Amino acid sequence: MASSIGSRNGTKKKYLVFMVQVHTNFRRAELESLADLYNIKDINFDKYDDNSPFFFVELDNDQQAKDWIKRSILTRAIYEYWGEGKTYDGLHESIQSQSFFPEYKKLYENDSFKFEFDTYRGNSKSNRIKQIETFSYLEFKGKIDMKNPNQIFTVIEEYKPISENIPAKEPINLIFGRLIQKGDRLAMEKYDLKKRPYKGTTSFEAELSLVSANIAQVKPGTIMYDPFAGTGSFLTAGGHYGALVIGSDIDGRMIRGKGASQNIGANFKYYEESSRFLDVLTMDFTHNSLRSNLCIDTILCDPPYGIRESIKVLGARDPERFVGKENVEIDGKKAFLHRDYIPTKKPYALDALLDDILQYSAERLPIGGRLAFWMPTANDENIETIVPLHSCLELKYNCTQEFNKWSRRLLVYINRGPGFDGPTNSGIKRSTTAFRDRYFSHFS
Ligand SMILES: C[S@@+](CC[C@H](N)C(=O)[O-])C[C@H]1O[C@@H](n2cnc3c(N)ncnc32)[C@H](O)[C@@H]1O
Repeated sequence: MASSIGSRNGTKKKYLVFMVQVHTNFRRAELESLADLYNIKDINFDKYDDNSPFFFVELDNDQQAKDWIKRSILTRAIYEYWGEGKTYDGLHESIQSQSFFPEYKKLYENDSFKFEFDTYRGNSKSNRIKQIETFSYLEFKGKIDMKNPNQIFTVIEEYKPISENIPAKEPINLIFGRLIQKGDRLAMEKYDLKKRPYKGTTSFEAELSLVSANIAQVKPGTIMYDPFAGTGSFLTAGGHYGALVIGSDIDGRMIRGKGASQNIGANFKYYEESSRFLDVLTMDFTHNSLRSNLCIDTILCDPPYGIRESIKVLGARDPERFVGKENVEIDGKKAFLHRDYIPTKKPYALDALLDDILQYSAERLPIGGRLAFWMPTANDENIETIVPLHSCLELKYNCTQEFNKWSRRLLVYINRGPGFDGPTNSGIKRSTTAFRDRYFSHFS
């Protein structure tokens, strides 16, 4: 197989990133975060467009392209760019006129290969064999191998449908490239909630939990913590990227699951990733007992929105009722030390809980470590959503997923330490109406 890795005389090469046209609000954040994770500098995002699945970039070499895209959930694939045209004739002319064409042709002439076609917003009924024959000027001498070729050459056809129901017959644009790396879209099938042994009403869908883990830069061999673990969707996503994960939740039922075959640990076993599952524990986040020198590299979570139940923390709604009762004993042992003791809980505001998450992250994450969490907002309020801010944390991304009447945002922060001195709004009431009340009144 020809060695295709390495920059051409130190110059950059042109590549095409072919993305999915969903969750477009999250795509750039995912691409930037993965580039930063692999130390790939100077990617020019000027031509990046949320409305297009195509993004042309210049990179040093194929290895960079592989590193960058291998984890991406919102990218279909990255290709070494060979040319493009509005028709097949135009495409062939473009390929043959590129300055790099003679060099590329020579590099792969003896490799086994196959051709693939991919399409965007349409489909072709053309005879693909005949179309492949029009590329005979490539003069490849290697054998055609449909199963395990050294090189896959791809034609991407872009269509513009005549209307929503009437597809176009002919493509409006064609791009030709050599496949360098597919994105990680198969992970969505692996972690599909439908197939997961333990799940519940709070489980977070696979695609955006994996995207969240990418934007949070969850790294292999590091510790990721989800303080509101529920059924463990984010722990699962973190485990996929090789992190050692710890979760906690105030609700012991979530942590215990539904028996040995249906709990968070059982999910990790099912995915054959048990070695990445450190443990989960029942704990109120606001009374956190993880030892202070435990190094937590990333915090990724989906705090309670207060939709299915109001937000609660340990404590008494009416503390006066309990005065003097701390010392009540049962069978000679303090009541609260019995295993079946159920502590009292009191309501808590989402704003206060989010302030607590920010403060905890500022104290516990390393400099450069990321906190990523989801926050719900009602769309029809005529007031701006106020995003929580902390003086040590840089708000890096604020990506929105829109639903009909509400939306949720993935907020991603980088811990910059006390010297950062960024803006803060800790302690202020940011939401005017409890999200839960708005949700149940259908945002009317
Ligand atoms: C939106 S759910 C998270 C769901 C989770 N991502 C999953 O995959 O199932 C929020 C979770 O926070 C938990 N929770 C609520 N208040 C809490 C607190 N004070 N401390 C820790 N967990 C809490 C709830 O029990 C619930 O499981």
